[in-house]
Amino acid sequence: MKNIVVFASGSGSNFQSIIDAVQNGSLHAHIAGLISNKSGIKALERAEKHGIPTLVISETEFHEYEVYERQLLLQLENWNTDLIALAGYLRKIPASIIKAFENRILNIHPSLLPKYGGKGFYGINVHKAVLEAKETMSGCSIHVVSEEYDKGPILEQATVDVLASDTPEELAARVLQQEHLIYPKVIETYLNTLNEN
Ligand code: GRF
Repeated sequence: MKNIVVFASGSGSNFQSIIDAVQNGSLHAHIAGLISNKSGIKALERAEKHGIPTLVISETEFHEYEVYERQLLLQLENWNTDLIALAGYLRKIPASIIKAFENRILNIHPSLLPKYGGKGFYGINVHKAVLEAKETMSGCSIHVVSEEYDKGPILEQATVDVLASDTPEELAARVLQQEHLIYPKVIETYLNTLNEN
């Protein structure tokens, strides 16, 4: 059984979809832990409820960035991490971690990348930009994490129609529904490819 570690900074509804998929047997993996950069978030409550170990760690607590990186790496090693799934994690992943887990970090982004990705495109900003540009279609993308923000190879996308009457929140909710459907499936498929290597 492969070990997944999820990184989240907020509600963690995608984290929940991963938990649900493990529990209903459609995702064959063990969730070894949840890492968050801040305390008091809903994702941590979800972890606690399901007995998943957590670590709250932020580079702001450390005088030296390298000490933070080492600490993070140590925890990932202690959890025997096979795959990292970023699920609404709003901090930059240190380059040393991306290197140590090359091709073993996935991210979900609420747009049809490469559109509306990169600096500044996170959370509701993405959906506002999509509506402002009068797009007729939006969606979400799952990609492998590389050193450049939102730029790694895309594994899967799901689309939704954008309605003329949509508010950013309505569009976000429709996209999020798709995120919950595809993220656990992509993780399952991706883990199987890791098994082959
Ligand atoms: C999702 O829209 C995801 O695509 C983005 O951040 C949001 C996280 O939502 N990266 P949640 O915390 O999983 O509910």
